[in-house]
Amino acid sequence: MTILAGIDIGGTKCAVTIGKRIEHNEITLVEKVQFPTPRDPYETITKMISVLDQLLLEQGSTLAAVGISCGGPLDSKRGIIHSPPNLPGWDHIPIVSIMKEHFGVLVGLQNDANACALAEWRWGAGVGTRNMIFLTFGTGMGAGLILDGKLYTGTNDMAGEIGHMRLEPTGPIGYGKAGSFEGYCSGGGIVQLGRLKAEEGLAMGQPPSYCRFEAQLASLTAQGIAEAAQAGDLAALQVFQTVGVQLGRGLSVLVDLLNPELIVIGSIYARQRDLLEAITLEELHREALPHAHRECRVVPAGLGDHVGDYASLSVAAYQVI
Ligand code: BGC
Ligand code: NA
Repeated sequence: MTILAGIDIGGTKCAVTIGKRIEHNEITLVEKVQFPTPRDPYETITKMISVLDQLLLEQGSTLAAVGISCGGPLDSKRGIIHSPPNLPGWDHIPIVSIMKEHFGVLVGLQNDANACALAEWRWGAGVGTRNMIFLTFGTGMGAGLILDGKLYTGTNDMAGEIGHMRLEPTGPIGYGKAGSFEGYCSGGGIVQLGRLKAEEGLAMGQPPSYCRFEAQLASLTAQGIAEAAQAGDLAALQVFQTVGVQLGRGLSVLVDLLNPELIVIGSIYARQRDLLEAITLEELHREALPHAHRECRVVPAGLGDHVGDYASLSVAAYQVI
């Protein structure tokens, strides 16, 4: 039996997973350990190594490959992570050679959105498609592109860095840019929009339910704002209205440019679909060409909250297939 390890490096949390390859194309998740991403890259790497060492000890089987999934910009061929916007301090980290040296096995590195696209294509909502796009919509916004039946990574792994695309001249900041796709459609973007609404409400003496006092402004979360919206809070609903419209606008660019048959969206969209879906699709249909959007389904991640786990494991699987 082959054991594979997956490492998912996120702006908020890291996950180390162990999977077993049953047959050619099948992987089952055996173990998962998750922890908040430490500030320092080398502290993070040391922690990931010790967690994986411990998991391997418990499993008692031999490791075949390690797959690493991480936000870009990165260089998958040389195995180097180059300063992702949501991982401050990760400047030109040779993650693959560090892991190879320690574990002595094949190690692969892939952009997280690309890895999620591969996982959803192999095992999730995208099975059987030829043209599908995965959007992360979590801490960051990134796209993984499966075009004509294979992963498209661009000239130097920068394809799908769509969080950087400007949607408005100004607006919430994401990917270092105000009014960008990541500025609107990310956890941090929702918090920025929620804070703005809260400040307006506080100034008028009508604070929203998710921020009753000024002191709460600093500790808002996307989840808290979403829960308020679910409970009918007007300001929170307006935040999700804005986010849904901008998501639809972003999708329309992808649909007009690439003519996909399926767009799969993870994380916040998958969890808050009822707040976003109708608004997002309405905007997509308004903005994209009918001949293109009529052929394109938009769905939440089929692997649900496990998409990131299967993503890093799929990178490992690609090393040994
Ligand atoms: C990164 C992308 C990544 C996305 C999701 C963006 O900020 O630049 O490469 O796919 O976040 O993590
Ligand atoms: Na990508």
